[in-house]
Amino acid sequence: MPDSTLIELRRATLAAFASADTMQQLEDARVTALGRKGTLAQISKDFGKLSPEQRASVGKLLNSVKQDLESAYEEKKKHFEEAELARRLAGEWIDVTLPSPGLRPGSLHPITLIQNEIEDLFTSLGFAILYGPEVETEEHNFDALNIPAMHPARDMQDTFWLSNGHLLRTHTSPVQVRGMRELGPPLRMIAPGRVFRNEEVDASHEHTFYQVEGMMVDRDVSVANLIYFMKTLLSGVFHREVTVRLRPGYFPFVEPGFELDIRCLICDGSGCAVCKHSGWVELLPCGLVHPNVLRLSGIDPEEWGGFAFGLGLTRLAMMRYGIDDIRQLQGGDLRFLSQF
Ligand code: PHE
Repeated sequence: MPDSTLIELRRATLAAFASADTMQQLEDARVTALGRKGTLAQISKDFGKLSPEQRASVGKLLNSVKQDLESAYEEKKKHFEEAELARRLAGEWIDVTLPSPGLRPGSLHPITLIQNEIEDLFTSLGFAILYGPEVETEEHNFDALNIPAMHPARDMQDTFWLSNGHLLRTHTSPVQVRGMRELGPPLRMIAPGRVFRNEEVDASHEHTFYQVEGMMVDRDVSVANLIYFMKTLLSGVFHREVTVRLRPGYFPFVEPGFELDIRCLICDGSGCAVCKHSGWVELLPCGLVHPNVLRLSGIDPEEWGGFAFGLGLTRLAMMRYGIDDIRQLQGGDLRFLSQF
């Protein structure tokens, strides 16, 4: 076997390695030359037919060709592997300082926004913020508020009763009862939260809505104090001076009781659809705490007096943001909620 066969094999295979554009082409070239049934293996088979002298010289050349081809192959393979790694790294590279493309920042619910404002406002006026349970006892929700069983005032609030005799609170007034009993007078507190009434749902009625009720119990509390706090509250919420008026209103837990109206903020009192052309919007029931209510929570009405009010948070949010359908607020529709 002439040496030129081996030399030619080396030349051709090195050229094939050099011109391989893919790993597969490189691999094919390797198999052709170095594979188990490749050219080199074929040549080695014929090795036995050579004379001992020839064997020595050809063997040497054969080994050196084999080594040359193997190392050329390894080098080219390494080159492909590095290119592949570089390509993968380029693809997987991320800029960790970029904002995530998949997530949008959330936003607070309009009721939460207005509740936060009201809480801040009352905190600045020295009021504590108290939260109570949504499942209440009949005693906290009704009896302690001077609404005994069989009293017709129970019908004013359609109630979801639970089978164990408890109920879903119909207002946050029971938190005032808890406040009076646990903290005692003098007391300034508000009770924001979710309340429930067994109502037919339409554009202006929901079975689930939000209130902020509040009370102040101290010595010599008068209707003038009540009006002052209510005006401060409403100016704070609407960011402007509001004109209020009181009309008599009946609630078993206050005496005297009032409906507080504000001069319509849409038309300034000249009459529009929002105020039903009366110039006034009914917003806030309130009054001086009934002596029975104080007594039922262990406070002596001879020594202490107070005012209480019930603000419809849902109603307020609707007025503030011009929301015309109450069902939007509980609906969970992100297209609506993400506007705030
Ligand atoms: N608790 C009453 C309600 O939910 C509101 C109210 C509170 C009225 C305080 C007067 C005084 O309807």
